[in-house]
Amino acid sequence: MQPDLFADTRSRIDLGPGAVLLGGFALAEAEALIGEIPALAAVSGFRHMETRSGGRLSVAMFNCGETGWVSDRRGYRYQAIDPRTDRPWPAIPPRFLALAAGAAAQAGYPGFVPDACLVNRYDAETKLSLHQDMDERDHSAPIVSVSLGQAATFLWGGLSRSDRPRRHRVLHADVVVWGEPSRMVFHGVDSVERGTHPLTGPCRYNLTFRKAR
Ligand code: SIN
Ligand code: FE2
Repeated sequence: MQPDLFADTRSRIDLGPGAVLLGGFALAEAEALIGEIPALAAVSGFRHMETRSGGRLSVAMFNCGETGWVSDRRGYRYQAIDPRTDRPWPAIPPRFLALAAGAAAQAGYPGFVPDACLVNRYDAETKLSLHQDMDERDHSAPIVSVSLGQAATFLWGGLSRSDRPRRHRVLHADVVVWGEPSRMVFHGVDSVERGTHPLTGPCRYNLTFRKAR
């Protein structure tokens, strides 16, 4: 794997201190990353999680890793057991771990070993409102977020909810990494673009790697 070769072919955008969009970083691996998803989904399964208020998250998701992010009537948390299967989440594939560690290192965070990988599927018109990733115990580790398939608009705000977010187009194989002092920046996803990607059809996948425990 030599994603560094491709890093220069698309732009690297500094989002702020400790935060960078690595354009095309995952290009060499993207097809293989997408190829892992069906087997993982066969173990765990995409689902629309409930929220505390009884709503339904429009992003379909599941986790792999020692622990996974869940939302239900009790709120948000991490847990080692998939509530849908009552079994552990599938392990994070080595290919995923290598990509996440490589991107983190490129962004200035060597030695990143995530214990949770949220696999998100955005169908057309799906959005993810501005939020902070705050359910992890260890905020010293960065977040690594890999975009696959259809392009979308990534919203990158500030440390306060009222900070007006900048809009960045995230394309297939782009990777965003953010850590201290930007670890708690508000972010979200607006408008997955319409169209058909050769590898994912109308959807966008996102792999979010975190150190949660
Ligand atoms: C997330 O913030 O959890 C996902 C971000 C993305 O899909 O790019
Ligand atoms: Fe997030």
